[in-house]
Amino acid sequence: MGYEKKEQLYEGKAKKVYASNEANVVIVSYKDDATAFNGLKKGTITGKGAINNRMTNNLMRRLEQKGVPTHYVEELSERETAVKKVSIVPLEVIIRNISAGSFAKRYGVEEGIVFDAPTIEFSYKNDDLGDPLINDYHALALKLATQEEIDLIKKYAFMVNDLLKGFMKEIGIDLVDFKLEFGKTADGQIVLADEISPDTCRLWDEKTHEKLDKDRFRRDLGGAEEAYEEVMRRLMGDK
Ligand code: TMP
Ligand code: ASP
Repeated sequence: MGYEKKEQLYEGKAKKVYASNEANVVIVSYKDDATAFNGLKKGTITGKGAINNRMTNNLMRRLEQKGVPTHYVEELSERETAVKKVSIVPLEVIIRNISAGSFAKRYGVEEGIVFDAPTIEFSYKNDDLGDPLINDYHALALKLATQEEIDLIKKYAFMVNDLLKGFMKEIGIDLVDFKLEFGKTADGQIVLADEISPDTCRLWDEKTHEKLDKDRFRRDLGGAEEAYEEVMRRLMGDK
């Protein structure tokens, strides 16, 4: 209770991380900055920081209740949240239910194909290399995680998919794909970290198939602010 913000530890593309008065707790602060294509495209989505903060916290609390351990501790303000201090496992974990984005491009298929079963892939989280695709064997060879950690990460990622798909279906949204990051606490526990927001998920309206996520920014479709607000409005229940 009463976490105090101390010195800045790190600034990423969408968030800043600060130390707190507790050694095992840090404070994340969400920015309105938006980037795409490994930082090549830069812009602002006004209000996104506050939306992503509140949406991530809402979803993490519900996932935690359903048995997925997360880094979430306490929402401090519109844009700031106290989270457990973790070392981030340098793997971006991507789950897909419907073809889109780099999957459609890489395998030469149209967007919108509904898969019989979800897929999982890892990218090596390394901006200098452009986050290359990587498999379990490569991750082990590079000592990015142990086999046990990779197995646990996969188990949690599929649990998150089942739960998140359900949460989104309740509000008329198809969960197309999303990216997760996991962290390791001081005592070695693997927990869900980072964020779950329209920055990190593809969310399509189930009826109109309208894109309600960062693809509006990536692809210059316009209306990114309105799309983020729409997801937030539906999620918070004032339909
Ligand atoms: P992709 O189709 O470009 O590989 O993206 C898959 C999902 O991962 C999509 O929901 C957007 C999300 N994502 C991120 O959150 N950060 C990233 O850097 C990338 C490339 C994708
Ligand atoms: N945020 C990522 C970047 O700037 C990419 C993305 O979400 O498309 O590289």
